[in-house]
Amino acid sequence: MNAQIDHNLEEIRRFRPSPEFAAQSVARQSLYTDAAEDRLGFWADRARELHWHKPFTKTLDWTNPPFATWFEDGELNVAYNCLDRHVLAGHGDRIAIHWEGEPGDSRDISYAELTAEVKRAANLLTSLGIEAGDRVAIYLPMIPEAVVAMLAIARIGAVHSVVFGGFSPDSLHSRILDAEAKLVITADGGYRKGRVFGLKDTVDAALGKGAPSVAHVLVVKRTGNDVAWEDGRDLWWGDEIAQVDADHEAKAFPAEQPLFILYTSGTTGKPKGILHTSGGYLTQAAFTHRNVFDLHPESDVYWCTADVGWITGHSYVVYGPLANGATQVLYEGTPDTPHPGRWWEIIEKYKVSILYTAPTAIRSFMKVGRQIPQKYNLRSLRVLGSVGEPINPEAWIWYRHVIGGGSIPVVDTWWQTETGGIMISALPGITDLKPGSAQIPIPGISLDIVTDEGEPVSGTDGGLLVITEPWPAMLRGIWGDPERFKETYWDKFGDKYFAGDGARRDEDGDIWLLGRVDDVMNVSGHRLSTAEIESSLVAHDMTAEAAVVGAADETTGQAVVAFVILKERQTVTLTNEEASEQLRAHVARQIGAIARPRQVFIVNELPKTRSGKIMRRLLRDLAEGREIGDTTTLADTAVMQSITDQVR
Ligand code: WT7
Repeated sequence: MNAQIDHNLEEIRRFRPSPEFAAQSVARQSLYTDAAEDRLGFWADRARELHWHKPFTKTLDWTNPPFATWFEDGELNVAYNCLDRHVLAGHGDRIAIHWEGEPGDSRDISYAELTAEVKRAANLLTSLGIEAGDRVAIYLPMIPEAVVAMLAIARIGAVHSVVFGGFSPDSLHSRILDAEAKLVITADGGYRKGRVFGLKDTVDAALGKGAPSVAHVLVVKRTGNDVAWEDGRDLWWGDEIAQVDADHEAKAFPAEQPLFILYTSGTTGKPKGILHTSGGYLTQAAFTHRNVFDLHPESDVYWCTADVGWITGHSYVVYGPLANGATQVLYEGTPDTPHPGRWWEIIEKYKVSILYTAPTAIRSFMKVGRQIPQKYNLRSLRVLGSVGEPINPEAWIWYRHVIGGGSIPVVDTWWQTETGGIMISALPGITDLKPGSAQIPIPGISLDIVTDEGEPVSGTDGGLLVITEPWPAMLRGIWGDPERFKETYWDKFGDKYFAGDGARRDEDGDIWLLGRVDDVMNVSGHRLSTAEIESSLVAHDMTAEAAVVGAADETTGQAVVAFVILKERQTVTLTNEEASEQLRAHVARQIGAIARPRQVFIVNELPKTRSGKIMRRLLRDLAEGREIGDTTTLADTAVMQSITDQVR
């Protein structure tokens, strides 16, 4: 990690926007000056770019920190803003979604068609007893119905909780329980890497563990695989939707109406339900989407490769792009199915002009080699975006040259599930770009880098990233747990939001993100908690103790590496390799494949301080093949030597 940072700081390349790009750029320098002069007035103006059924008169209420309200007395309908508004403005024929299924089937959906589908779905939800404020869980593959379901739920003022389709029955179950979802929307299955994976099965298994709040399961037919059926509870989406009224009027809801809950990993074993509301969230999602990606809705074809199960999919597949009337690609499958050029083929087919993806994907394409993308015509691309983890300068340059043809802007966007929208990013056409740095706060965002005591760092010193003023898309809390909300983000500095990331500024004032400072790992741009994987490991019969660290990994950024002490009786029957393999599979089963450790080392001891705290720092040194750091605070200083001998 340190070598990486040093390397980043030596990075001196700068790329000035071309005059042609600057001339047509959506973003204007005046955004920065306007926001600096009157931050709240700036956001109020951005909010007024949406349609309000009832205009707001108040912008921000921060009298009860950390609980903010934005545009509180205003009323709007989020789905109306994403759909009806564009149809009424005469853009009904514009394609909203070019959907591409993994097996090669595809569907073009116009704004008029998407609006019509969402209206029916809204009526269907109402007919199933879903009311404003009720929670609905979504467990779907990347098919149009995922977007339709989210918007239909928003349209009736209900609250969605999308659970990524790769999560296990246990993970789905705990999320359904925590949110007390009344309804689950799923599919029979989805396609991944050419195979069908069952989704309804997982829902059945999750509900089989007991979920008294769930009255119905709506099932979209996607793969045609056999599914078990519980009469009275289970309903086919297609059959039901054909029976409801096509007409639906979008009613207004307060700006602070909850819009969704999205679970993310924290430093404890229990995922946090991050709560987002309507008016402020949509304002920031739409503003950032338009300006960070230089969106010209009448001519661009935008593609964000994130799954709707993550925040990137919420803000930059569903709400931002649709609020802006964009035409976008939605792709169901994996990047290399059925062939390694699938993404580039899609870009050529739909003439994608804006691509938003993650460094981990870029690095895996780099590994395969430029000869694959070079087979396709990628000249339609004009803006490239990156999100999820720091993008190393090599990947940035490769992205710009091999994918972007060498002259188009690459924007690195820093944000979090909690921030709801992009917080730090260059604006293409305005900012000189610097590979490896996320650069500067977007207009209207106030942040700083501080010491552990909350004092601004001096010069280019590293420190902790904090957000110093409330922002429109900020999380409004953790579902059902206001105390944890305060504790996690606000107690450390009182009045500043603690992001959990290390950062520093260079001589130009550009921000470089240095990774998490807490026990949260970032694997392929996905957030995982060391505590959650540790508790999964110790839940296995054969485990006595476990410690998990995130170790640097060339492709995935970080990888999960576990150190496990087995219970005595097990060591007799299994070899270490077998035990390790079983434990890897166990974690994948319990949490989901993304959490599967890259390695599980079976050891006899773990390094602990005198007070019994596991020193993960030393295990990380070991996992990354470095010399072991200072061991003087260990209760038994010989332990690291014995662990090293067992691992190497
Ligand atoms: C964490 C948030 C925001 C959508 C994807 C992840 C890391 C995210 C960057 C970036 C450096 C980044 C941070 C952050 N992160 N984007 N451009 N540069 N780090 O959302 O799962 O909520 O994770 O991802 O560590 O705290 P998330």
